[in-house]
Amino acid sequence: MKYIIGNHKMNLDYITLKGYLKALKKVAKNSDNKVGVCVPYVYLDLAKKVLKGSNVLYGAQNMYYKEAGAFTGEVSPKMLIDFNCDMVILGHSERRHIFNETNNEINNKVISALNNNLTPILCVGETLEERNNKQTKKVILAQLKQGLKNIELENAKKIIFAYEPVWAIGTGVSATALDAETICKYIKEQLNKLFSTEFNFVVLYGGSMSEKNVSELLNNPSIDGGLIGGASLTIEKFKPLINYKN
Ligand code: PGA
Repeated sequence: MKYIIGNHKMNLDYITLKGYLKALKKVAKNSDNKVGVCVPYVYLDLAKKVLKGSNVLYGAQNMYYKEAGAFTGEVSPKMLIDFNCDMVILGHSERRHIFNETNNEINNKVISALNNNLTPILCVGETLEERNNKQTKKVILAQLKQGLKNIELENAKKIIFAYEPVWAIGTGVSATALDAETICKYIKEQLNKLFSTEFNFVVLYGGSMSEKNVSELLNNPSIDGGLIGGASLTIEKFKPLINYKN
């Protein structure tokens, strides 16, 4: 069993998504994997209605950490729960780099999601410059340490981690299976060190995963699934990933 989670980002419209979700429900029914999709906030009601009674998990791509208040334009964990969301992506590289989210803010969001029984999908990953300067492990460790501040082991176990090298996102250039496996393994090791435990934390890979490389990437012991952008936008492209078998 692997996690196959789509991240739609700011894509699709109401009608297209409605058809997509209906088809997704059918395809996911016969899958061995845990299938999920993160849609724009305004379509969560649609996801709730169409995916009702299915085995497809769904959620949002961000949230604010406060539960309510004067925060114009923001969406709270309570609101996501209102739409029965299972999960929320936090600290995606586009949030970090386009919207300048800091590890500290992301940490607040992870804590808030956990307090509200939402599964956080905590994304970490290095930029191309950091990779070229051989800082990948250092950057990821800092993102993990700061993102997980004040979180206890029992709660940390509920988090889904996603290794998403920034240079691989939306570029068509995926990390090699060896690189992805190496870093996902590193993440698991560091989490075990941080929490002084021996637990098999869930770590996904994300960055240009597609029909072409899904088997190569997921046939690795430390890669527990994929967070998929571009290839999750149509059922035709997403189906081979949903149907992945070891
Ligand atoms: P991509 O996006 O699959 O289009 O590279 C992955 C992500 O950003 O989660």
